[in-house]
Amino acid sequence: MPLFTLSPAEQAIQDKVAKTYSAFPFPKRTARGIFQRNQEFFTKLERVGVTPADIRGKRVLDAGCGTGELACLWASLGAEVTAIDIVKPSLEIAQRTARAAGVDITFHQGSLLEYPLPEQAFDIVSSHMVLHHTADPARSFANIARCVKPGGLIFICVFGLWGRLILCRHPLWKIWLVHRLAGPDSTRRVRLAERWCYHPGEEAAHGLEQEQYLYDLYGVAQVKHHTYGEMLRWFRDSGIAYVSSWPPMEFRREYDTIMDGSHAARSPLGRLGRWGLQQPPVQAMARAQWANRPGRMSRALTQALAFVKSDSYMFNVLGRRPQ
Ligand SMILES: C[S@@+](CC[C@H](N)C(=O)[O-])C[C@H]1O[C@@H](n2cnc3c(N)ncnc32)[C@H](O)[C@@H]1O
Repeated sequence: MPLFTLSPAEQAIQDKVAKTYSAFPFPKRTARGIFQRNQEFFTKLERVGVTPADIRGKRVLDAGCGTGELACLWASLGAEVTAIDIVKPSLEIAQRTARAAGVDITFHQGSLLEYPLPEQAFDIVSSHMVLHHTADPARSFANIARCVKPGGLIFICVFGLWGRLILCRHPLWKIWLVHRLAGPDSTRRVRLAERWCYHPGEEAAHGLEQEQYLYDLYGVAQVKHHTYGEMLRWFRDSGIAYVSSWPPMEFRREYDTIMDGSHAARSPLGRLGRWGLQQPPVQAMARAQWANRPGRMSRALTQALAFVKSDSYMFNVLGRRPQ
């Protein structure tokens, strides 16, 4: 029994997203790309306050696992992993990858909007670069948040709206513009992007090959860009307490980062984004409550700084379901 009923428009979006990822399962990185992405993922987790020690022996749900690279990473850190994705070809690759890595992962095929995931069954729910592709990110979040145990964590990473507004090295504004210029046909969008804003070889920096890189960026029908305020409302509506974010949404933490001498020392403006804050361990944040969230003014100031820093376009937020 599906959890939510999709409207015809939502169903059409979901079908298109699934069609693109079925044709171009994502990601399929080189070994070097996987190594680099693992480092980046560890950094994100550490910056929001999760350490490998917090993961060992825990039940983890990877929501929107794609070809399973991160699911395998969670499993290799000692977690018992369940992973779900809407796309069968991605899951087939994921199963092969898990077998090759010698890790045991339970895979399900289904939409985050519809799949009846077990309630309060996971210590950690992670959804990395997925929600903004779903037909209704708020409802998708609500569905995966249901699965977090009391005291458990939820970590989400999505495209941040401010990354689109920064007309620098980030692709979000290009994605937005290409959608507007080339319309609903995914191949038209990809070919326009290829002519207009693609630099040959840029996919290599991510350990990806050209077509899957271009289709992931420009070919997917739904790419939303979110604000921290929006993400905090998702948390509130699902009874999840805000714990931490990276880049930090709190102005004071962000300001401290920028004013830190070691960062300022190598500080042409664009390089200020070496977010060096040490986060307190997750245990110390167990009492985090909704009331701890940064206020609107703090978030606005922080995001204004993002213009100057021109840094991250992915918003990472960690929450906890209170005991
Ligand atoms: C950019 S990839 C991210 C894959 C993986 N999480 C990672 O970071 O490597 C987005 C994934 O979300 C999946 N996806 C999109 N909409 C979905 C939905 N409604 N339900 C489940 N998975 C979905 C796609 O099939 C695709 O595998």
